[in-house]
Amino acid sequence: MEKLNIKRSLELFEEAGKLIPGGVGGARRPYNFVPGEYPIFLESGKGGTILDVDGNEYIDFLCGFGPIILGYREEEVDEAVIQQIRDKGFCFSLTQPHQNHLAERLNELIPCSEMCVFGKTGSDGTTASIRIARGYTDRIKVMRCGYHGWHDWCVEIKGGIPVKLYEDVHEFPYNDLDQLQDLMKKHGDDTAAIVLTPFGHPLHEKMEEPAPGFLEGVREVADKYGAVLVYDEIRTGFRLRMGGAQELYGVPPDLAVFGKGMANGYAISAVTGRREIMSIAEQKVFISSTFFPNSTGYIAALKTIEILEREKVIDKIWERGNRFLERLRSILDKYDVGAELTGVAPMFFVTFKRDKGNTYKARRNDFYTQLIRRGIFLHPHHHGYICYRHTEEHLNRAAGAIDEALAYVNERHGALEQD
Ligand SMILES: Cc1ncc(COP(=O)(O)O)c(C=O)c1O
Repeated sequence: MEKLNIKRSLELFEEAGKLIPGGVGGARRPYNFVPGEYPIFLESGKGGTILDVDGNEYIDFLCGFGPIILGYREEEVDEAVIQQIRDKGFCFSLTQPHQNHLAERLNELIPCSEMCVFGKTGSDGTTASIRIARGYTDRIKVMRCGYHGWHDWCVEIKGGIPVKLYEDVHEFPYNDLDQLQDLMKKHGDDTAAIVLTPFGHPLHEKMEEPAPGFLEGVREVADKYGAVLVYDEIRTGFRLRMGGAQELYGVPPDLAVFGKGMANGYAISAVTGRREIMSIAEQKVFISSTFFPNSTGYIAALKTIEILEREKVIDKIWERGNRFLERLRSILDKYDVGAELTGVAPMFFVTFKRDKGNTYKARRNDFYTQLIRRGIFLHPHHHGYICYRHTEEHLNRAAGAIDEALAYVNERHGALEQD
């Protein structure tokens, strides 16, 4: 399959390099995809597809890195927001009433939800949750597992951040209760919060569901030491279930953070949880920002949630996604090239096993190159999502392309010699 023409993307990227450090924002830089193969600038999107600036169309499974749960340019959501902007306005010095309505909806839908604080980004939410937990417990340490955003306490790349801002934050691997217990034996009495993604979705790596007893074990450790248990449901909220992974797996946290899928692309996030803990945000800790009360995100979230419920979107994504993943599993079984499929219907990932000859990176590059050339936008290092507007036809085309891409890897690299 021929290389795509991405000339305009490359020209814009060169121009951008003089204007913006790195040309485009971190996660969106070409080195995170397959450089020279993936587009860099997009023109538009509709439903489950996107169009780049060179006129190439893709079935998009990255979904804006997660916020697109319905589809691009979902008319009902956009119309509700446009109406608000046009008829009433959205940025004021005081709060518009949608705040209350959205908080009530979250209380109805999310198991741990009793009170909410709204922000704009996922990082706003995770950082606010840590501040609330520290305020509530009068302790400093945090045990964390997963990506929680770009703020000082949790970002992976430590440049520009004084050590003292993250020296009290300790990481543990997903599904490794022993390691968390060891950390808590040492630091439990100083620990304000245990924060984790309730579903394992680390960058580059396979996705993991909680092992039997893992979430229950984390809950128990948090209770034993009096630490606040926080779920980072930025990706899982309104995707695995309306109420997130806590609803699916039945182990509620004390606090949870929601964002992304909640508003189909509009900026809004929420920390929510037990009243006793959330009340700390009334006086003791400060959480406020100029744009937090802007109502566009609230309107979009209310409308998105209405559609998710009305059309039983999550159930449909599971049904469609399960059929799709079943088909992918049988395709992957045909090729002994080291490709692995993990995840669950709404979120899935094809990764490549590490091997003796260290060919997995080349296999991965070839696989994703063949996909993008066939108009399937999947990220080599980040799992994909299925959104409501992905049709059976989209999924069939994606499965066909994955079959061809694996056949290519097989022909080029042969069977995998494992470590
Ligand atoms: C699990 C998780 N938590 C937090 C964040 C941070 O959200 P944001 O990028 O909106 O600040 C992300 C973003 O990808 C995320 O995936």
